[in-house]
Amino acid sequence: MPYAAITGWGDGMPPAVLSNEDLSTFLDTSDEWITTRTGMKERRIAHVSAIEMATLASSRALACAGLDPSEVDLIIYGGCSNDEIVPNSASGVQVALGATRAAAMDINTACTSFIYGLSTATAMVQNGTIRNAVVIGVELISRYMDWSNRNVAVLFGDGAAAVVVQATDQPSGVLGSVLGCDAEARQVLRVRGMGCTYAGVGITLGDTAWDFDGQAIFKRAVKGMSEACARVMAQAGVTADDIDLVIPHQANLRIIEAVAKYAGVPMDRVIVTVHKYGNMSAATVPVSLVEALKEGRIRPGSKILMPGFGGGLTFGALLVQWGERVTPLGESGMAFPANTRAALEMVNAIRAGQDPHGRSAAGLAAPQFAESRTGAAAPA
Ligand code: UT7
Repeated sequence: MPYAAITGWGDGMPPAVLSNEDLSTFLDTSDEWITTRTGMKERRIAHVSAIEMATLASSRALACAGLDPSEVDLIIYGGCSNDEIVPNSASGVQVALGATRAAAMDINTACTSFIYGLSTATAMVQNGTIRNAVVIGVELISRYMDWSNRNVAVLFGDGAAAVVVQATDQPSGVLGSVLGCDAEARQVLRVRGMGCTYAGVGITLGDTAWDFDGQAIFKRAVKGMSEACARVMAQAGVTADDIDLVIPHQANLRIIEAVAKYAGVPMDRVIVTVHKYGNMSAATVPVSLVEALKEGRIRPGSKILMPGFGGGLTFGALLVQWGERVTPLGESGMAFPANTRAALEMVNAIRAGQDPHGRSAAGLAAPQFAESRTGAAAPA
């Protein structure tokens, strides 16, 4: 049975930064509250569609792996804030990349979508169905946010990253995989109205209401991720001392610290990006992986623990062994269209389409930047 090595990686991070101070201009909140409760200082707001973010990340990952889009067998698009439900989003990435041979599927397990996706792609490589896959973690949450609800509006951000997975005989890639779902409490994280951007008939951008019991999610996140870490380490026959790096889901610095403590791994071996990007749901783990590589924190053969948790309440943990190469083979020529608007300006445009309770009135036009939702990322 072959292994499924991670041979390419790339991000598709939108440039516009929304600070805690920006949020304080329209919410009863403060930099002090957000920083002490979550560790977050900034998050990104996309001026492009989720498919554009996913396409740029995938293009960079393919260039990094030295793999032509025509050689991709499967694209897995992991996320829950899709531009549309039908057609699926992976097909949008397929056409934008020109990966004409690739099968294309979406996986939505909310924040764990990348972890579930990487586990799935690995299994499909190992059973011989495919040889080359692109696995994406992407979210465009700003369009679905209830910006009048401070319980959730301060927590989330937009972003994307992708990896290329390829069949190899060398022991590397995902060596252990634990996936699960604490569905008994699935009602503590629900976004009513998410998943449809159809403007004009009562469901429009940002037409959502969030049910979010932060404390219940917090406790179950720590339990779910900690148990998954223990199980995956036992499955792979490793202990905390063998773990070179933990790349956890980034929902709250306090959750990350608790999970690292239970796993027995000191924080200097944990990648933290939550202060820069907030909670990007499915994108947090791959974006943090790309940052770790850029910072030289992953070495040939590194053993990496990747725990995650999200709506459902899904959880999981992967044990990844890195291969030999930690530098990209090439660079993509693709880039986002230029952005001319500040993050707060874009958020205020979305807010303008929402009533004070976060629900938009029927027939309201979508925000001006919605036209970019249909276009693919353009070559630079
Ligand atoms: O990725 C998906 C998984 N999501 C998560 O894992 C999130 C898990 N939960 C959490 O990270 C935390 O529970 C939160 C960050 C969401 C909240 O932190 P907390 O320490 O659990 O705060 P809390 O909900 O107990 O709220 C404490 C106080 C409340 O006021 P009172 O009742 O004490 O007067 C809230 O109304 O803080 C208030 N509050 C805020 N104040 C300022 C809630 N949100 C805000 C805010 N700014 N944005």
